[in-house]
Amino acid sequence: MKPLPMVPISEAELREKEAKYCSHGDTVHYSPVPKFFQGCEGSFLYDREDKPYLDLQMWYSAVNFGYRNKAIVDALKAQLDRLPQLACQYLHEEKVLLSEKLAKESLRAFGLEGRIQYNVGGAQAIEDSMKLVRNATGKSLFMAFTGGYHGRTLGASEITSSYRYRRRFGHFSSRAHFVPYPYCYRCPYGKKLDTCDYYCVNQVERLFETEYNSFWDAKVSESEFVAFYVEPVQATGGYIIPPPEYLSRLQKILNERKILFVDDEIQMGFFRTGKFWAIENFGVKPNIVVFGKAMTNGLNPISGLWAEEALISPAKFPPGSTHSTFASNTLGTTAALATLNWIEQQQYETKVAESGAYFLERLEALKKRHVTIGDVSGLGLALRIEVTKPDRFTPDKELTDRIFEAGLAGGLPSSRGPMGLVLDIGGHYKNVFTLAPSLDITKSEIDLGIELLEYLFTTCAKV
Ligand SMILES: Cc1ncc(COP(=O)(O)O)c(C=O)c1O
Repeated sequence: MKPLPMVPISEAELREKEAKYCSHGDTVHYSPVPKFFQGCEGSFLYDREDKPYLDLQMWYSAVNFGYRNKAIVDALKAQLDRLPQLACQYLHEEKVLLSEKLAKESLRAFGLEGRIQYNVGGAQAIEDSMKLVRNATGKSLFMAFTGGYHGRTLGASEITSSYRYRRRFGHFSSRAHFVPYPYCYRCPYGKKLDTCDYYCVNQVERLFETEYNSFWDAKVSESEFVAFYVEPVQATGGYIIPPPEYLSRLQKILNERKILFVDDEIQMGFFRTGKFWAIENFGVKPNIVVFGKAMTNGLNPISGLWAEEALISPAKFPPGSTHSTFASNTLGTTAALATLNWIEQQQYETKVAESGAYFLERLEALKKRHVTIGDVSGLGLALRIEVTKPDRFTPDKELTDRIFEAGLAGGLPSSRGPMGLVLDIGGHYKNVFTLAPSLDITKSEIDLGIELLEYLFTTCAKV
């Protein structure tokens, strides 16, 4: 059968149809007029006129290993010809081999035996982790961070700090207790890291000091809260890196109170920060790790979690505890296995550290030239630019938005000809560019990114 010919359709017609037929509820619609793209390769997206855009956010870190990475795409194409679909109640080779690799990776990182289970998206895997915790403890109250983001299903919204995501939908289980995130540039307690002696984590410890703080029953040594959800580097919150000892000190407190440590690696996993799991930067051994996005390099929806054996053994978490038709779909597991094979053949620990250090050095120099950049920092290739008024502190969301839109408008002058720049905005005040470039970004592409940022900060600040 011949494929149907593609009928050319204008952008104006597409926009008209989008306005009529597409729900806007399932996208962020950050830009009032979202951009159409029609191609991608490496670190670049291409618009409908085939004009290039350097992408410094790579689908919120889902495409860590470059657009159309050939090794991963080829594995997926081969699976399309072999076993493209299969009900999850049957087994296929890739599922088992992928689970082995992920479990061994966690054994290497944490010294703990565990198992892997799959779902389709990040938020669904978070929901699965909530079930694991509830099943193991018989309790359902969680702690999480202000500025944290764990997804937008009903359950995940309860541990995501923004009330905006819950306001219109009522409560599904129970809203987490939100602890101030260690955001040192804007310390919630007005302290400075060199003199604070981790005041913020000591405040968490204080919650358990007396029963009247409403967390702890000293008579039976039991906490009312049973798990703490942590993004090792706060992602949507603005790529905020916690100070070096914060998470290990937090874990010590949680261990003493028998509270499980759930590590949300959905955005920071798979070498974004220079380590396989971002939590490895902080010397913490989590009880559960949740992942998604880059595990398939953004090719096919699949997510999952690793949990220590005591929580997830078949005796503890028996068949049917969760289920989704598409959970361990053959295309997803194949893309993920190919991604892990790809990772094994690269030297990302060294490479990401080197490119990240170079990028950060260039961002620090950029900051010196622009008074509207309040702060820059980075861990591996998770980098941030905090956009502020010229006092280098007051958040400037308007300027952030103008730069974002001007980058997406494309056609900026650059040494490589007219170029666009794809950025993403995060942060507690929506004034942070969260940079997640391809982990294979070259030095000259980093230079191009700096050139474009230089142009945008110069021209957009003048309005
Ligand atoms: C840290 C973190 N957790 C959970 C999620 C939710 O993942 P998904 O959008 O795949 O549901 C995200 C998505 O951005 C995330 O960054």
